[in-house]
Amino acid sequence: TDLCAQGKVAGQRVFIRADLNVPQDDTGRITEDTRIRASVPCIRAALDAGAAVMVTSHLGRPTEGQFKPEDSLAPVAARLGELLGREVPLVSDWVDGVQVAPGQVVLLENCRLNKGEKKNDEALARKLAALTDIYVNDAFGTAHRAEATTYGIAQFAKVASAGPLLAAEIDAITKALAQPQRPLVAIVAGSKVSTKLTILKSLAEKVDQLIVGGGIANTFMLAAGLKIGKSLAEPDLIDQAKAVIDAMRARGAAVPIPVDVVTAKAFAADAAATIKDATDVADDDLILDIGPKTAELLAAQLREAGTIVWNGPVGVFEFDAFANGTQTIAHAIADSKAFSIAGGGDTLAAIAKYGIEDKIGYISTGGGAFLEILEGKTLPAFEILAKRAAGG
Ligand code: 3PG
Repeated sequence: TDLCAQGKVAGQRVFIRADLNVPQDDTGRITEDTRIRASVPCIRAALDAGAAVMVTSHLGRPTEGQFKPEDSLAPVAARLGELLGREVPLVSDWVDGVQVAPGQVVLLENCRLNKGEKKNDEALARKLAALTDIYVNDAFGTAHRAEATTYGIAQFAKVASAGPLLAAEIDAITKALAQPQRPLVAIVAGSKVSTKLTILKSLAEKVDQLIVGGGIANTFMLAAGLKIGKSLAEPDLIDQAKAVIDAMRARGAAVPIPVDVVTAKAFAADAAATIKDATDVADDDLILDIGPKTAELLAAQLREAGTIVWNGPVGVFEFDAFANGTQTIAHAIADSKAFSIAGGGDTLAAIAKYGIEDKIGYISTGGGAFLEILEGKTLPAFEILAKRAAGG
């Protein structure tokens, strides 16, 4: 960080809030470690500068005060240790004090296990601030959350500053969207329908094409009067999906609705895949991917785009039989001359699976934070740092 470069952290207790919330399989093995790798430069800079370094992150959404083994950052500590080339001890019950010497780093157990973390409890935030001389927030992925380790501590710490990842992410995304090369095409897909629909509404005011996929596309298919069998969808949100379609149409822009889909009778890797026209979905069908005609239509639009914003796979790409849509989209983005920005855990996994990392203009470590910044919202964790920098 700047602070490190200025040599202001030697001998100081530096508390780094990172976003190490990475996906794991059932055995606790980390399946995608981009966020951990992206957090290393800040941690290494603080260590190299001679600070006593405490790092924390949340992992998942645990119940406060109720430790379960799957909530532990232990696998993250091991991976971080490999990347730093040194052991990273994991410290539990750390709110009342942390033992760490200059030149050492410790990982503080899942901060969302602390009572008051989620609701940004002031007493907790003051305790956290007392642990440190310098607070550094490098957790872009959690910058849309005002929690004790992302907001309250920044209010009360003696010094509070943005880490290099947080600063670079906000900079890149803000610059890219201020004056996008048009057409601006957004892909918003995945299963978190209710959380993303609000964001879709906002994007509908800005983008030239709004490509929907996954559970979101199913709800839009319902809005277009199509049947989706027993596919994942939120019928309560049909009217809002209609409003998005109408808002896009009113601007002469479009939400392409799938013309064909890949269906199965069960959600399983070995389920038989059947390609159907979007008008032929049966009552017992599950839509698990967009069909090949739809994928080609969307790929053609992506190749013509000036700027592409990608969040979410358009099908269940973890299962090979339902991966064609996401693979086609991924390659179209890679082949496009457009400046592309991608973000979200599943999106990063798809980018890795298809080996197109080098063909994406900017890969964000944020999921919800990425979408909120695209929406033009100020992220609270960044806002408080800006306030502190301005002397507030
Ligand atoms: C994310 O994965 O988007 C961030 O780590 C934030 O997690 P949250 O949605 O549980 O706050």
